[in-house]
Amino acid sequence: MEVIICQNEDEVGRIAGERIAQILTASSRPVLGVATGSSPLAIYAELARRVKNGDLDVSKAQFFALDEYLGLQPDDPNSYAETIRRTVTVPLGVDPVQVHTPSGTASDIMAACADYERSIRDAGGVDVQILGIGSNGHIGFNEPGSSFASRTRMKTLTARTREDNARFFSGFVPTHCVTQGLGTIMDARHLVLTALGAKKADAIAAAVEGPVSAMCPASILQFHRFATVVVDEAAASKLQLADYYRDADQLEPARPQD
Ligand code: GLP
Repeated sequence: MEVIICQNEDEVGRIAGERIAQILTASSRPVLGVATGSSPLAIYAELARRVKNGDLDVSKAQFFALDEYLGLQPDDPNSYAETIRRTVTVPLGVDPVQVHTPSGTASDIMAACADYERSIRDAGGVDVQILGIGSNGHIGFNEPGSSFASRTRMKTLTARTREDNARFFSGFVPTHCVTQGLGTIMDARHLVLTALGAKKADAIAAAVEGPVSAMCPASILQFHRFATVVVDEAAASKLQLADYYRDADQLEPARPQD
């Protein structure tokens, strides 16, 4: 696993964005896995800057989101379909048909989940998946206890996740979601996980240096050959090997490294 500790959010966006742009440019059928949340916003800003400058071409790329709240229509302001439209589709100037989100309202959710898995496979698989991390170590909405082999499916949200996300809702916070599974996420050829702020320090320490355990779903990244964790100083503050990661970043020019 590669861990990059940055001075601030802008640097996180620049470094992670550069890495992602390189991977997409090298792909004949670029597929980007996108995440919601505040953590990846600087990455999207960097990608948008590169598209605008002509340094990155996403006109033929496909985009797949990780998750959606169960019961929210795609045009609901709190739906992840709408969040991805606002933070990715519009800033990158891509056609909405290139952007896919799991359905939270299909009459047959299980069939829709299977279709979603199929559409990722049909697109050639995800070249690089952007991930945030929940304060409880979830990725996508794979809450603690999720199977490491899981595929896209419905999940019940933990009380902690509902509290963390309550700030987006004026009233009722959804209790369920549809999320890519940990097995689905692990099929991506590269993973880039990002986190900002001291609130994420425990989750990052558990994911990067803790035991691989379903209690911290993000710890599954330790089993991925090309996983990069890009964090700010505060999110890195509980990493025991922080100095080693800084040395490795300075000394080793070859990337990505496993
Ligand atoms: C939600 C999303 C996750 C995201 C997490 C963290 O729970 N389902 O994919 O990683 O929020 O969000 P933030 O980056 O805003 O802390």
